[in-house]
Amino acid sequence: MPDITEPPQWLSNDPTVYRAPTTYTDKPAPPPTTAPLTRADVLSLLEADQDLWPQPLTEEQIISWWDSAPDWSWKYITSSTATSTTTGLFFCIPLRKSSFRMLQRGKLKEHQIGEEHIWKPAEDGEREVGLHVFHVEKDQTKAGWRREWGGMMARAFADLQLVVKKHGVEVLGYSALAVTPDGFRAFKNAGFELFDIERSAEHTPVEGVEPDAPSLLALPKSKDNLESATFAPSNGYWFFKEAQENQDSMVVF
Ligand SMILES: CC(C)(COP(=O)(O)OP(=O)(O)OC[C@H]1O[C@@H](n2cnc3c(N)ncnc32)[C@H](O)[C@@H]1OP(=O)(O)O)[C@@H](O)C(=O)NCCC(=O)NCCS
Repeated sequence: MPDITEPPQWLSNDPTVYRAPTTYTDKPAPPPTTAPLTRADVLSLLEADQDLWPQPLTEEQIISWWDSAPDWSWKYITSSTATSTTTGLFFCIPLRKSSFRMLQRGKLKEHQIGEEHIWKPAEDGEREVGLHVFHVEKDQTKAGWRREWGGMMARAFADLQLVVKKHGVEVLGYSALAVTPDGFRAFKNAGFELFDIERSAEHTPVEGVEPDAPSLLALPKSKDNLESATFAPSNGYWFFKEAQENQDSMVVF
């Protein structure tokens, strides 16, 4: 039985080193399949995220995201007869309509998402969700992505539609807080719209804001600023994408 319990060791925590694979030496690997995240995966993701984008997220909180919506997040594994390797990780939080609207208005920050904001099946009969992508990452040393398996974003969003169908919900839209150049490019390429820019208070102490207060600060913005924005390491970029009408809520790449 392949061991898939080891958390991925390749989760990145340095925004300056992300690069798509440039070498392709291995023979083609079988396409990845999805497997549920383990508690260890979730905790190692938290650790990596804290290095990347310091925000007051607790273990209890991220575990509650995972517990409340276990089938909206997964890892990709490729298996041979002897081994099984994690090649990607996708973590999405289905939000209740009211919570998603708050997120869109900047009234709810990622680190403030609690169990009460998360959509759960059969709760109040609510059928509308907003899908917040907390993390998407592939093992960039595995050249199979793109060449053979296609882009990870496209794959993850296609798999996400299966979960949407399973739950029979209507998707209001998608959101993501991109804090890496890859994330910035990936969400832009996927047709997300840059909506707001935030700065980590850790990078930019602000007068009147306590050091341990929620670490994100909205920057003054104008539409022009957003349109011309390019990635800068101390910024977090909020991307949103409305669900496409008449397209079965599919994200079109
Ligand atoms: C985000 C991520 C999963 C997207 O993977 P993906 O959908 O397979 O797409 P890639 O980023 O590999 O490539 C997308 C496109 O950008 C291009 N690209 C890759 N690196 C690039 C670079 N440094 N500069 C310019 N273009 C680049 C690719 O060639 C590709 O172009 P194509 O569509 O014409 O083939 C992946 O980049 C990743 O794991 N990054 C590290 C983790 C991360 O930063 N996650 C986001 C956190 S907010």
